Amino acid sequence: MKAKVLVTRETFQDVLDYLAGHFAVTANQPDVPMDLETMARALQDKMGVMTALTDKIDAGLLARCPDLKAVCNIAVGFNNIDIEACTARKVMVTNTPGVLDDSTADFTWALILATARRLMEAEAYVRAGEWHGWKLKQFLGNDVHHRTLGILGMGRIGQKVARRAAGFDMQVIYHNKRRLDANIERTYNAAYVGLDELLARADILTVHAPYSAATHHMIGKTELAKMKPDAILINAARGGIVDDAALIEVLKSGKIAGAGLDVFENEPALNPAFLSLKNVVLTPHIASSSTATRHGMAMLAAQNLVAALDAGRPPNWLNPFA
Ligand code: DGY
Repeated sequence: MKAKVLVTRETFQDVLDYLAGHFAVTANQPDVPMDLETMARALQDKMGVMTALTDKIDAGLLARCPDLKAVCNIAVGFNNIDIEACTARKVMVTNTPGVLDDSTADFTWALILATARRLMEAEAYVRAGEWHGWKLKQFLGNDVHHRTLGILGMGRIGQKVARRAAGFDMQVIYHNKRRLDANIERTYNAAYVGLDELLARADILTVHAPYSAATHHMIGKTELAKMKPDAILINAARGGIVDDAALIEVLKSGKIAGAGLDVFENEPALNPAFLSLKNVVLTPHIASSSTATRHGMAMLAAQNLVAALDAGRPPNWLNPFA
């Protein structure tokens, strides 16, 4: 008899077909998000689950799902999963690193350019029929080329963002938990600096750190106050790394020039004050959302699930235990 697995959110049909070759699959193609109770019921008798970042997997849920052996997240981030609780119950957890790096870096650049050059404001102006002629000072924005890019979190995605900065003749500085090897710094022409220096020197500060208790509100009131008045802040990593209420205050008072945000605290119920600000570009957590990349993420999560339940050694195993 095939092991039973659950796919919590809509996915690509060929990913479901691949899973069906190994397991008895319960899918949620109507894509109705599951609350805790629905998820706990759906996971009864399931050995594996393919989760989205919207699914919270915690000790309480795990205690109600005694057959569960693998949680395979369709995301590189895994802050929706209590890893310790999974390890305590010998539940394997996997993520999808690598496949989304380039698409996320591309989208980060879309946010940088749209924010610095006021693309959304200008587009809305044209659509509203308000454009009645060329003016020298129309939608004056900030240049991106030849300026200083500050990268907070210089992992795989941060490095892809740095690589793209070369085309804009930028100076790249970064801050990371650990300083990178000199060879990697040379590859990206990136200089390591302390957090305070990063905040003070960056014309564009872009966040690519993982979210955890250690990075919660890492960019808050104090840090924002250290940024230049014409700087912009970009976050395509995770909500919660930036203190959204503090960011709204500095955007309102013009203490920084703007922000490009793909992620928020308490998604999708973002702080409504963002909506009335003109100097912010808002997108709905889609940085990795190209067709090829989202498909790659879903297929990698499925491959992790097959390797976890068939062989006990998934390639992207986050909590290896004996
Ligand atoms: C991730 O992979 O963590 C992304 O946020 C998903 O879109």
